[in-house]
Amino acid sequence: MREMSRTNESVLQETIYRLDGPLRSVLGETEQLLSMVRWFPGCTVLDLGAGTGYLSLNLAHAAGIDGQVHCVDVCGGLLRVLEEKATRKGVGDRIHTHQGSALHLDFPDDSFDFVFSSYLLHELEDGVCVALQEIRRVLKPMGEVVLADYRRIADVRRCREIEDWYQAQADGGGPKEQHLRFSLDEVETMLSESGFHNIRLRSWLDFHVHAAAGK
Ligand SMILES: C[S@@+](CC[C@H](N)C(=O)[O-])C[C@H]1O[C@@H](n2cnc3c(N)ncnc32)[C@H](O)[C@@H]1O
Repeated sequence: MREMSRTNESVLQETIYRLDGPLRSVLGETEQLLSMVRWFPGCTVLDLGAGTGYLSLNLAHAAGIDGQVHCVDVCGGLLRVLEEKATRKGVGDRIHTHQGSALHLDFPDDSFDFVFSSYLLHELEDGVCVALQEIRRVLKPMGEVVLADYRRIADVRRCREIEDWYQAQADGGGPKEQHLRFSLDEVETMLSESGFHNIRLRSWLDFHVHAAAGK
């Protein structure tokens, strides 16, 4: 899924449906990801590649009434959906959207207690390490990153089924063959080479990886 491919309204609507449809929310992934860090009132959080706010609203609840959640995405159309949802759910005052790239974050060093990013990395291709360095830069010294993305699995037939399903989607999202999925070892190496420590990894539901690490 790329901004350039999202040139018409129907493709945008397809993306919104896929990211924001009812199926994802019942699986409990956001709760699992949020449980990977210790929350405290008034924390500052970045949701990177936030899309329609799959994580953002839960992040806003976890951060509490004095917390702030900044949501960055290249796609303004998805951020508009996020803003509407935040207002509707009564957390619009602590959610701030920014259209921009994960590769050049427009925040000073040491800005956030937590950076969350779900299903962004596979879209960055060669930019993954740059994004991880940007995440580390904007985290406060004791800050933590939490990531979710597609996991590379050994079962080639299952991989093909997953790729075929995604390729059939109108917006062309999801992991493509070869380089857009990550083994647990690869995620650990990327995080450690980007300077993170205390790396915790787990696989989730078949072909996903969840990771958390400290700055
Ligand atoms: C698969 S979606 C995931 C969205 C959301 N985190 C979720 O889990 O539903 C990937 C998101 O990353 C955004 N994105 C892609 N490249 C980006 C970049 N370079 N910087 C910021 N966002 C980007 C896309 O617009 C899209 O909203």
